[in-house]
Amino acid sequence: MSEHGSKAATANAGHAGDAHAGETRRDFIHIAAASVAAGGVAAVAWPFIQQLGPAADTRAASSAEVDVSKVPEGSEIRVLIGGMPFFVRHRNAVEMAKAVADDKLPMRDPATDESRLVKMQDGAYNPKILVTSGLCTHLGCVPVGPAQGSTGDFGGWYCPCHGSHYDTSGRIRKGPAPKNLAVPKYEYLSASMIKISL
Ligand code: FES
Repeated sequence: MSEHGSKAATANAGHAGDAHAGETRRDFIHIAAASVAAGGVAAVAWPFIQQLGPAADTRAASSAEVDVSKVPEGSEIRVLIGGMPFFVRHRNAVEMAKAVADDKLPMRDPATDESRLVKMQDGAYNPKILVTSGLCTHLGCVPVGPAQGSTGDFGGWYCPCHGSHYDTSGRIRKGPAPKNLAVPKYEYLSASMIKISL
């Protein structure tokens, strides 16, 4: 458990971690509901509640706990940890089926959909929930997704900076980005709670 606090946020497209970061961070909508848990702070996922500048504990956080049961089906929430954006997507049946069906297609950065998931505590996968980095692998913009009304040509995310399209598994399918959206280090603490760590 991290000793640092955590917050979660929703981001618009833009660079992170560079000269544009200040502007980008102002676009993040922070999740207001946060409660102290043993040894740390649990951020309860609840998008679009309150727009704030980045709090000091947001920048300092090294992990965040997210209640995935609060993520709307067919949409996502965006979580900031230590200033780094992450996507927590609740895929609907069509999005899950498309991700698996496309496993057999040639990919720039080959990976099956299942290989991009993490097992729950009971050893089963939860294909409804996909967790990825929120940084485009081209030059680090934050792609737009269902919450911004644009999921690109493959139903996942679209990076408007230079036109990269990611599918519903976060795999790069079109445009200049060389790699899939990275799957961060995370674990299931329960059937509905995950902990994402830097
Ligand atoms: S940074 Fe995303 S396409 Fe260039």
